Amino acid sequence: MGAWAADTSAAPAPSASATHKTSASATQTTSASATGSNGAAVDPEALGNLLLQDCGSCHGMTLKGGLGPALTQERLAVYDVDTLTTIILEGLPGTAMPPWRDLLSAEEARWIAETLKHTDAQELP
Ligand code: HEC
Repeated sequence: MGAWAADTSAAPAPSASATHKTSASATQTTSASATGSNGAAVDPEALGNLLLQDCGSCHGMTLKGGLGPALTQERLAVYDVDTLTTIILEGLPGTAMPPWRDLLSAEEARWIAETLKHTDAQELP
């Protein structure tokens, strides 16, 4: 019953934990479920959206910083793409930065890492 039955595979979204840390925007982040890890295909529009909505709930809607630090090219210059991919997949233990392993495939995490290295939030798909 119910329209919500379609996607039961994902673990509770990390954005759920963001909900009580940020007041306004985190409640309607459903975008992550659309990007599951069923295949290698990367959907730039969905991921760009996830980046702004889900990551943005902590890192600021323009990724200029919030609960988490700014995710600007300038700041992330110290990381290479591999390191960023690992941070996204594994999170940063002991901090509020959650692991995205259950929600994003390695390809998707790498796309986000490369996008963060080469794109500013205003230019996202
Ligand atoms: C629940 C809040 C939260 C969410 C959601 C979140 N982050 Fe974070 N993130 C943090 C916090 C807090 C830190 C800083 C951890 C620390 O103290 O080093 C961080 C750190 C990072 C860093 C390291 C930045 C640096 O300069 O050290 C990257 C990269 C990053 N996050 C990417 C992402 C991406 C990409 C997403 C979405 C897939 C995301 N984060 C979602 C809270 C969050």
